[in-house]
Amino acid sequence: MIRRAAMFAPEIGGRGAGSGTPVADGTNGLRPSAGPAAGERALAGEAPGGKVSGDPASATGGAVAADGSAMAAPDGRRLVIAVDGPAAAGKGTLARALAGCLGLPYLDTGLLYRVVGRRMLDAGLDPSADASGEAATLRAEDLARGDLRTPEVDRAASRVAGQPAVRAALLQFQRSFGAAHGAVLDGRDIGTVIFPDAAVKLFISASHRARAERRWLQLNAHRSPADGEREAEIAAVEAELVARDAADSGREVAPLRAADDAVRIDTDRLDADAVLAEALRIVRARVG
Ligand code: DC
Repeated sequence: MIRRAAMFAPEIGGRGAGSGTPVADGTNGLRPSAGPAAGERALAGEAPGGKVSGDPASATGGAVAADGSAMAAPDGRRLVIAVDGPAAAGKGTLARALAGCLGLPYLDTGLLYRVVGRRMLDAGLDPSADASGEAATLRAEDLARGDLRTPEVDRAASRVAGQPAVRAALLQFQRSFGAAHGAVLDGRDIGTVIFPDAAVKLFISASHRARAERRWLQLNAHRSPADGEREAEIAAVEAELVARDAADSGREVAPLRAADDAVRIDTDRLDADAVLAEALRIVRARVG
């Protein structure tokens, strides 16, 4: 049974621009946008206001505490929150909402690999071939492309993500993004490789079936096929997810896994508000 009103709302056509949307800085590099925002209320325990995904666009950037100082990790550094987990487990929904609540920039690191995979396809190249050149020349505007969430790009992104040279080329950008103002980053290796000393690490998981239903809804929000057809399509999506999990978890470099000090949240039986509330509770416990 699929509940279209599930709190994990389908995200059609890519994810919305938010406070953490990388913007061109006039060089080939990327930087997070910056500006005032209030994460204080969320950290003080206030409910997120009933808004499922938060609105990073209205919280325009760097995390600023009530006294005007930047929100910091317990050791005084910028607050970095790592949100890792497999595809369609709800980590993007959570990470974006968390960023909105805390007024932190948000980076969906999967987009970086998607752009590299997309550019390999555009160039008529096999995504398994060396893609480090595409990674090294990635540009901010690429992240806003509307063609990064097709099944073809899913596969291409997974292939390029398995290449050590691609990961190396994308590493510094991710670290700079988080170090600039603090950030919420979601991906597969944020807590293990990119920010092994992040103040808060969350690992988001869900059953294959729940993830397949969510991904199917993302891709088919405007269709209502007959039950049998829908079931077959969901089964196909599930098979793709299982294959991608195997590739992401089984690769030698930066495999998908929970950091030893990550807190796990299983989203199967939680709606997005409940996941966000749980995540905020964990952040409060770590950051105060
Ligand atoms: O989260 P996503 O489905 O958009 O990610 C696309 C691909 O990139 C997926 O195969 C996993 C990979 N990826 C990764 O290896 N490391 C990350 N930090 C983010 C994504």
